[in-house]
Amino acid sequence: MGFYSRVLLPRLLDWSMSGEGFAHYRRTLLADVKGDVLEIGFGTGLNLQHYPKGVSRLTVVDPNPGMATIAETRIAASPFAIDTQLLSSEALPMADDTFDSVVSTWTLCSIPNIDQALQEIHRVLKPTGRFFFIEHGRSPDLSVQIWQDRLTPIQRVIADGCHLNRPMQTLLERYFKVVTVDRFYAEGLPRIAGYMYRGVAAK
Ligand SMILES: C[S@@+](CC[C@H](N)C(=O)[O-])C[C@H]1O[C@@H](n2cnc3c(N)ncnc32)[C@H](O)[C@@H]1O
Repeated sequence: MGFYSRVLLPRLLDWSMSGEGFAHYRRTLLADVKGDVLEIGFGTGLNLQHYPKGVSRLTVVDPNPGMATIAETRIAASPFAIDTQLLSSEALPMADDTFDSVVSTWTLCSIPNIDQALQEIHRVLKPTGRFFFIEHGRSPDLSVQIWQDRLTPIQRVIADGCHLNRPMQTLLERYFKVVTVDRFYAEGLPRIAGYMYRGVAAK
């Protein structure tokens, strides 16, 4: 992993994703998360302060060691224990049916093999568990889609593999029986990166 991805990008993402707009989405998504929890694409730990009291244990995975360095201070200040693992969610080492909740915030866009990662999330989730997500992805508007397709090759380079054009709901429905999703353009973001899929999926 190069200097840009390991050192510069984590700082850039931490700065750009720590505002109140993002915090509001984090807080509302995480309000119902409970029990034994897995967060994929933990990044710099910006979700930590928003986890509710019902969380008994938190395991977090992310393959970028530069993210983990920035997350250290937030982890140290956390009221509950956190198991941090430096790995990709395409190959999780956890047993089947382990977690009550799995969380992903703006991460599914960046995982190279998204199908593999979704299968893994499904596998480690308990039969009664729920997958909480908020992701940006493919817009329903043709004029926006055209630019999402054109700019994704550039976005993948500057944002470490991030795709602007993934049809998140379709992808989730391949693996989860129940997908409740709220789709909208986020205020203050360009439409190519601001079409959000927020919801909960179950087996
Ligand atoms: C845009 S950042 C979002 C970080 C964090 N979820 C947040 O909400 O602030 C995308 C994150 O996905 C992580 N990521 C990329 N590929 C991944 C993979 N294969 N498995 C898990 N996380 C991955 C990146 O390292 C980065 O931390």
